[in-house]
Amino acid sequence: MRLTTLATASLALFASTVLAVGAPKGDITAGKQRFEATPEGGQSCASCHLEGGAKSIDGNTPLLAGQYADYLEKALKDYRSGARVNVLMNAQIGPDGTNPLTDADIQNITAYLASQRSSLHIYESAKSD
Ligand code: HEC
Repeated sequence: MRLTTLATASLALFASTVLAVGAPKGDITAGKQRFEATPEGGQSCASCHLEGGAKSIDGNTPLLAGQYADYLEKALKDYRSGARVNVLMNAQIGPDGTNPLTDADIQNITAYLASQRSSLHIYESAKSD
């Protein structure tokens, strides 16, 4: 009995630690707003990556929904600094971009995108699109 209690408590502690480590830091609601916001003279992220980043306007524009937040964060910081080169993304968030992102924007947007349902691993739904 005592051993069971101890085992249960250890498991609960382990699970909450794993979840806390894996959870994105940003604010999902703020991230959604920022992803959909149209800056003056520019265009919104959602205009190419569509709602929640779950689809996209063409085959060159990647799906973002359900992707790991830390992967997305690295991608955005690399476009922002110019370390990752893509004419469309650098024109959005690069040094002279029309939709520049702060570190907080990046944390919020990546938390939002990571929280979205992905179609990447659902073969049947991808097939019917
Ligand atoms: C004009 C269309 C367009 C707009 C607007 C746009 N993107 Fe992109 N995005 C792209 C394309 C095209 C790529 C693929 C670039 C490449 O191959 O490196 C991309 C790549 C990305 C990636 C990397 C994905 C990966 O799998 O590596 C992220 C993250 C991203 N965009 C987020 C955003 C965010 C956030 C915004 C708004 C600030 C935004 N995008 C605005 C077209 C766009």
